[in-house]
Amino acid sequence: MKIAVLPGDGIGPEVTAEAVAVLEALGLPGLVLFTGDVGGAAYHRHAHPLPEETLDMARTADAILFGAVGDPTCDALERHLRPEQAILGLRKHLGLFANLRPARVFAGLEHLSPLRADIAAGLDMLIVRELTGDVYFGAKGQRTNDAGEREGWDAMSYADSEVRRIAHIAFRAAEAAGLPLTSVDKANVLETSQLWRDVVVEVAAEYPGVTLDHMYIDNAAMQVVSHPDRFGVVLTGNLFGDILSDLASAAVGSIGLLPSASLGERQTQFGTFGLYEPIHGSAPDIAGQGKANPMATIMSAAMMLRHSFGLEAEAVRIETAVSRALADGILGGDLGGSHGTAAIGAAVRERL
Ligand code: IPM
Ligand code: MG
Repeated sequence: MKIAVLPGDGIGPEVTAEAVAVLEALGLPGLVLFTGDVGGAAYHRHAHPLPEETLDMARTADAILFGAVGDPTCDALERHLRPEQAILGLRKHLGLFANLRPARVFAGLEHLSPLRADIAAGLDMLIVRELTGDVYFGAKGQRTNDAGEREGWDAMSYADSEVRRIAHIAFRAAEAAGLPLTSVDKANVLETSQLWRDVVVEVAAEYPGVTLDHMYIDNAAMQVVSHPDRFGVVLTGNLFGDILSDLASAAVGSIGLLPSASLGERQTQFGTFGLYEPIHGSAPDIAGQGKANPMATIMSAAMMLRHSFGLEAEAVRIETAVSRALADGILGGDLGGSHGTAAIGAAVRERL
């Protein structure tokens, strides 16, 4: 079971180290780890945020554990050399179009949410975000318009097949969990969203057991913080999913608690090839201080065991250890506690 570990920038190395330690503590036979450079760290060493050798390592692995990218010292670089291009490039090159972002308030930890406890208690949703299309990957540029003014532009588009394949992922997840599905778009304004909605309605015909509704992104943002209990599975595009998942994480209490899986079509001998990362960024302000909460990365490793290696029981062991640690008051600074990265990692391992 080959895992490419790509720690990246800022707090990435600290949080991935704890996730790796948790994986190693499980003592899984046949686990082999490789480490590669990505992001600003890769740029500084290889003059590119996603060096060819890292991409090769990622391609030959069965799964990827990714930390975070983002480095303020790279802000002035041309866009194709910026750290973010590492994660965008990996998603695109590896065909990882399906991003699963589960967000839930742990029972007994409603008080960690900035929402009223009775509202927070209902937050348990799976955001299924399309990850390789939309305005993220369209043509873009800056130009001088007819009035002689500088103008930035980004093309938004979705092809039928792109919407269809991610819709199937979301419908299957909703069907398996017996949850309703909400498709989030902006069909009242955007043609891209109208096509999105039309395709989702077509796909729905194949899933008569799933209750589907549609919501505009602005309303969905409002509902996530006012009536989170009305969501089961949320299906949305790349840009809206980016925003909605940060919002959902804030409603949980901290972005340091949300893991993610990015999956494509490729199957390995063990399961579905995928990339696993916390949804938070590199947090340069606290990098290297041992303060970052590694729980999102640790839970991303659990998702890896589930989806890429078919190790459901081990995944549950990790997730249970994390929720027990939280229930025992092992809280990082992001949650108003004082536990550091290493202490949180150790507390999770003790509870495995
Ligand atoms: C995320 C991040 C990335 C995104 C950035 C780092 C490019 O915000 O994974 O949510 O926008 O997808
Ligand atoms: Mg984001």
